[in-house]
Amino acid sequence: MENLKDKRVLITGASSGIGRAMAISLARRGCELFLLARRKEKLEELQRDLLVDNHQLKITLIVADVTSPDLPNLLRAICREHVDILINNAGLALGRDKVENSNFEDMKAMLDTNITAAFRVVHTILPWMLKHGAGDIINLGSIAGHRTYSGGAIYCATKFAVDAFTKALREETAGKNIRVMQISPGMVDTEFSTVRFKGDVKTANSVYAGMKPLVGEDIARMMTFMLSEPRHVVIDEIITMPMDQGSPTTIHRSSP
Ligand SMILES: NC(=O)c1ccc[n+]([C@@H]2O[C@H](COP(=O)([O-])OP(=O)(O)OC[C@H]3O[C@@H](n4cnc5c(N)ncnc54)[C@H](OP(=O)(O)O)[C@@H]3O)[C@@H](O)[C@H]2O)c1
Repeated sequence: MENLKDKRVLITGASSGIGRAMAISLARRGCELFLLARRKEKLEELQRDLLVDNHQLKITLIVADVTSPDLPNLLRAICREHVDILINNAGLALGRDKVENSNFEDMKAMLDTNITAAFRVVHTILPWMLKHGAGDIINLGSIAGHRTYSGGAIYCATKFAVDAFTKALREETAGKNIRVMQISPGMVDTEFSTVRFKGDVKTANSVYAGMKPLVGEDIARMMTFMLSEPRHVVIDEIITMPMDQGSPTTIHRSSP
């Protein structure tokens, strides 16, 4: 089993949901954490919570937008060109409209965040890993990166792109002691739906009505398992859905 103690980990999108849960999981394994998101107060709250359990933990907060052109320089300065593990997680969906009714700004935000920024973070960090001779990358895919659904054209397209990127990167890094992995969840109850429906909590909650979704901790446990396997083992991808979900659009609900 891989010892994760003192590994330097960058988690993008650490202020809520899956990224936050992963920070908690890896803090328990003694990692040094670089936690990135835009909301400073959420990151500070997470830092306080983590330090209550272990005040020896090394945590650096990076309050930044992943789409910012300055991001590579910022990461270079803060991480000092050494990251052992990248959890490439920051991402979002905006809206559930068909393409003809979609807002172009929403489309652009998804493309910029889920594709351009996610690829750029890898473009910045991978050369450090190659120079260091080791590294692990987990990209956040989605079942939306394997199966499309009406009203999800752009979001699905971004996650299909992440899937292609992960696969090609895995081929490019074979034999270089870099493990490129992906986790592709179905429904996870995080802030994802609240963001998607722009703060409409009632609509966001209705997504999970009458069914038991996954939670961030489920995904964090699986990613921690992926990282903990011996180095010669690469868990290429985990595709995971709640018991009540059969596909992006087939959901069993026990109540209306
Ligand atoms: N929840 C699901 O059902 C589900 C299913 C499959 C895949 N995923 C994927 O899992 C990942 C995490 O989502 P989640 O479910 O944990 O949602 P979430 O609770 O909304 O978390 C998203 C995280 O991304 C950060 N983020 C978004 N845009 C950013 C930007 N421009 N710059 C920096 N950080 C940004 C947010 O932080 P700030 O707002 O503070 O910046 C937040 O920490 C995403 O890639 C999502 O596509 C989610």
